[in-house]
Parts: sequence; C-alpha cells; structure tokens
Amino acid sequence: ELKDNTIIIVLGASGDLAKKKTYPALFNLFRQGFLPRDVKIVGYARTKMDEAEYHKRTTAYIKNPDEDADVASKIEEFKKLTTYVAGDYEDGAAFNKLTEHMEEIESHYQHKECNRLFYLALPPSVFTTVCKNLKEHCYSSKGGINRVIIEKPFGKDLESCRELLSSVKEYWTEDETFRIDHYLGKEMVKNLLVFRFANVSIGSLWDKNSISNVQITFKEPFGTEGRGGYFDEFGIIRDILQNHLLQVLSILTMERPVSFSAEDIRDEKVKVLRAIPPIEQSDTLLGQYVAANGKPGYLDDESVPRNSTCPTFAATTLWIHNPRWEGVPFILKAGKALNEAKVEVRIQFKDVTQGIFKDISRNELVIRLQPSEAIYLKLNAKTPGLYTRAVPTEMDLTYKRRFTDAKIPEAYEALILDALKGDHSNFVRHDELDVAWKIFTPILHWIEGQNGARPRPVNYPYGTRGPKELDAFVEKYGFRRNPGDYVWPITNVS
Ligand code: BG6
Repeated sequence: ELKDNTIIIVLGASGDLAKKKTYPALFNLFRQGFLPRDVKIVGYARTKMDEAEYHKRTTAYIKNPDEDADVASKIEEFKKLTTYVAGDYEDGAAFNKLTEHMEEIESHYQHKECNRLFYLALPPSVFTTVCKNLKEHCYSSKGGINRVIIEKPFGKDLESCRELLSSVKEYWTEDETFRIDHYLGKEMVKNLLVFRFANVSIGSLWDKNSISNVQITFKEPFGTEGRGGYFDEFGIIRDILQNHLLQVLSILTMERPVSFSAEDIRDEKVKVLRAIPPIEQSDTLLGQYVAANGKPGYLDDESVPRNSTCPTFAATTLWIHNPRWEGVPFILKAGKALNEAKVEVRIQFKDVTQGIFKDISRNELVIRLQPSEAIYLKLNAKTPGLYTRAVPTEMDLTYKRRFTDAKIPEAYEALILDALKGDHSNFVRHDELDVAWKIFTPILHWIEGQNGARPRPVNYPYGTRGPKELDAFVEKYGFRRNPGDYVWPITNVS
C-alpha cells in the first residue's frame, strides 16, 4: 500500500544511473498517477548546480513511449515536485542540511507521519558512508517508514560482499533494505512465475526427463565505450552473469513456492542456488572483443589498462544437484560488442525416441526477455498437403500481437513502485547474494590471477556472434543446432 507524505531522495542525482533510469522511471510513475499523493523528490549529489540545471539534467532522458500528448505539461508539473541539495557524501553536516530541507517540505504535509525512501544511485566507494550518514542524520523518527534502495555492485567476491552487507546492516534492517537487480523488474522475468506455475502442461515438462540443456543468453551490440574504467575492474561475469542471469536461472529452476509472498519465493530461490556447486574452469569460455567493422577493440579504450585480460564475453555452465535437474547443463552466456541486442532463455528438449523419425528437429521453448517480449515453442508438425512429412513450426506468443494495448513498464518503474509499497518479492535477499557469490568467486579469483597466471580470453571481432569457439562449447553440453528451414521427408508414418 502506498503511503501519503512520502519524500523520495535520490542520492547521486547528477550521475548516469539517476538521469538515465531513476528520474525517467519516477516521471513515468508520476505521469500515470502511481506515485503517492503529495510525493516530493529531492536530489542530492556533490555537484553544485542551480535548480534549472538540475531539472534540465533529470528530465533529459525522459521518453514518451505512449505518445502522451500532455507530456510537456506533465514534465513541468514533475519539475515542481523535485528539488535539489548539493552536499558531500562523507560530511555529516551536509546531511543535516538535507534533513532541514526535508523537514521544511514535511512541515507542509497535513498529517504528522512522514515517509522517506532513499535511493542510492552511487558508486560503491561511498556506499557504506552514505548508509551511515543517512541513518545518523536523515532517518525520520516521526512514525513514518524509512527505506533504502541500493544497487550493485554488491562487492566483488564472497568476502567483500559479506563485508559490505554487514556494514549496511549496522544501520539498516533487512526489512528497510531493497537491493535492486533490475532484471527482477522486467515483465518477462516476472511472468516466469505465472508461466511455470499456472500451467500444468509446462510444469510437467520441467525437469531432466524432458529437457536436454538450457541456455540463458545476454547480448549487447555495443562495447564498454565510456565505461571502460569501471568495467575493467568488474568484467562481464560480475556485470551480468552473477546477478542478472543467475536471477533468471533461479526463478526458472526453483521449486514451487508455498505462496507468492516475498519470503516464500526467496526461500525457494536460495534453496535451488545452494544446490549449484562453484563453476569449474573447464566449464568456462572467456572472450574479449577486438577492433572490427570500424569499431574500436576493448583494449583501444584509453581508460582500460593496455594488457587487460578482463573478459567482455563469458559462457559458463552450471549444474544443479537436485533430483529435478541432475545432469542438465545450464549455460549462462553474456557479451558486449556482439551482433545484436537480445536476452533470451532457450530450453532445448531431448530427442524423440529413435525409430520412426530420423534427424528430426528438437523441441525448443524460447522465452525472449527483450527486445519484443515473446514466448515460442518450436514444434514439429505435418506439412499440410497430400503427403506426409514433418516440418519445424512454432506456437508463438508474441506480446505485441497478443496484448496489443498493453504497456510494458520499464523495470525501474516496477521496482520503485514495489519499494514504495514495501514489497520485497522482486529484490535480492542477503542470503541470495551470499550463495550467488559462492558459485562465482572461485572462477573470478582464477580469472584475476589469484592462483597463477591470468587466463587470456580468446578474441572476437566487434559486432560478431562472439568467440568462434562458442559453437563447440555449447555442443559439448548437448546443444544441437536445429536445421533452420530444413524439412525432413518422412516416409514410414502410418
Ligand atoms: C547493467 C550492466 O546492470 O545492465 C550494464 O551494468 C548493462 O553493463 C545493463 O548494459 C543491461 O541492462 P538492460 O536492462 O539494458 O538489459
């Protein structure tokens, strides 16, 4: 339930995340009437700027996907809700100034209760200090709620993550803390629960008896341009696999939760993740893009160290040791500077029993998260006509066609609304993070040369499908490329 008298405070208001994601999401919630009554938004950052400059920056990335004719006037209204305070992140006195500013806003509220939602769009270096300062200087004790939203990176490995979480916990309780993995706000990721547990037909296919292998793939058509310095410290595994793709994997493979409550769902996610042993080096393929097609290579970025072995592409295979999934490989793949933008889950089913068919396509269920949400099942059917042969075809649920009027919200809109309502279902619990890091920490340490020489990633040209070794890698785990438009003539079907 939404609380009236709420202030949303965006820390790091002049940064990239705030202007590209947080403010546009807040605006869209506002435009559609989803923000609490009388809400106010306060930006806080080090940059000194006047209100006009602040408004210019925070509205620069607002898009108008629904072609709302009133959008210009709504932007003007939105600006009136938002104010800015400049201040340091380390300085307690500056946070007192922020509190004075909030108290002035709250003095106009009609009821006594005041609610504060702090959104930390900040680099990890100031993270803990800000959590401390917020608790000590900006925590409302007037009977309302105080909540803090935080974003990755949550450490760099198991140990640093534990340190970070426990330092935040000194000031903020688990109930007050909302850890974002924005993939949990994506429409198709949220649909996984319904798709799996509201369909008997799907539920009965969902195990090692029917499924041969699963791939969860993230592809981006651009490199680390402009973010090379940040990226080099983290790499593609921490950027995408350990969080976004592992979250998708856990929802895809967990047992049915007792209810849709946040704790029941997260209990099941943690349980399945605990059945995954740390990834083996031999189940890993690392890549780094090089200049091609007029685009620079990763090492051409000035902010990247010249001999960096940081992977910009990774494929890793995970195994789940439980009765449902024993023996099924789950391949997580992610890469920058590839040939297209796409995130999808591809579940490949086993071969039809030998005998009447030969070389027939496997069934595949594809769940496309983006772009253009869709679920399609590749099936074999008889080619219509006066002869009998099988042809691969598909049952297709493309959202744009099936839900013609539906507006698919941005992940950040869904998540900010959940945090305002106090619903933790789509946020990451502390023990989820712990077990996620356990799975990835050994290969991360190996990649960073903690047990010897750093492995050298294989090269792939900018704008391609990834390393040429990838096809052999996925075939090793039983993935079979279905013949594209191949039509297999069947002669002996009675
Ligand atoms: C972020 C990563 O978490 O997710 C970025 O840090 C990546 O490197 C982004 O580009 C992808 O998010 P989306 O929503 O565009 O798939």
